[in-house]
Amino acid sequence: MGDSVEWEEMASSRVEFRGVSKTYRNGGQPVAVLHEVSLGAAPGTVTAILGRSGSGKTTLLNLAGAMDFPTAGEVLIAGRATSALSARELTALRRTRIGFVFQFFQLLPTLTALENVELPLQLAHTPKSRETALDRLGWVGLEDKAGSFPYQLSGGQMQRVAIARALAHSPELVIADEPTGNLDDASGAQVLALLRASADRFGATVLVATHSAEAAAIADVRVRLRDGRIVERA
Ligand SMILES: Nc1ncnc2c1ncn2[C@@H]1O[C@H](COP(=O)(O)OP(=O)(O)O)[C@@H](O)[C@H]1O
Ligand SMILES: [Mg+2]
Repeated sequence: MGDSVEWEEMASSRVEFRGVSKTYRNGGQPVAVLHEVSLGAAPGTVTAILGRSGSGKTTLLNLAGAMDFPTAGEVLIAGRATSALSARELTALRRTRIGFVFQFFQLLPTLTALENVELPLQLAHTPKSRETALDRLGWVGLEDKAGSFPYQLSGGQMQRVAIARALAHSPELVIADEPTGNLDDASGAQVLALLRASADRFGATVLVATHSAEAAAIADVRVRLRDGRIVERA
């Protein structure tokens, strides 16, 4: 496999923020969004990132997922600073070691549930991608929906497919940005139980940005952001 990179140390590791600040510069006035955030998340734990809209939750998750980089300080994944990784290493990291879950599911509408779960495996040229995808769909309780298209599924079912997709590679890190924000309470509870189980059964490090008290309740650690600063940890 051309893009395989050794990340063995990942299994025992975590994500760590060391004095991380983030300033957006879009030509106009720079906007400082995170201020010296320090944070560590251990394997097998769920960390809830709380805070109002605009407090910096999505920015923090993008940094944790190596989708964006700090302006100052370091984000370490498996002990390595994301800013120091090569493009090839970053691609391999995002494709196979991190699973992303979004508020609006982001399933591809022209693919079936099974094909959506299988796609990241195919992109990484993983053998037995179909079997693995079916296994993950079974794990979220949707094996019988394998042939359904997203429009044929409820919001809760779409989010469970998205979780199956995020877990396709058995990622060490699962990043969920307001995953229950668009769901009714019962579906939201199912999604949270699956995120909790990702940590408990597979040892994933789960980071979840949320407004919901239910989501905060399933977390081991709760971190509250206000205007880009951590103002509370519990
Ligand atoms: N790409 C960007 N460029 C400029 N400002 C941004 C960008 N992304 C987010 N922001 C600003 O950063 C702040 C935090 O946003 P965000 O991380 O999305 O917070 P949250 O997810 O908690 O709502 C907001 O004021 C937002 O407007
Ligand atoms: Mg957000």
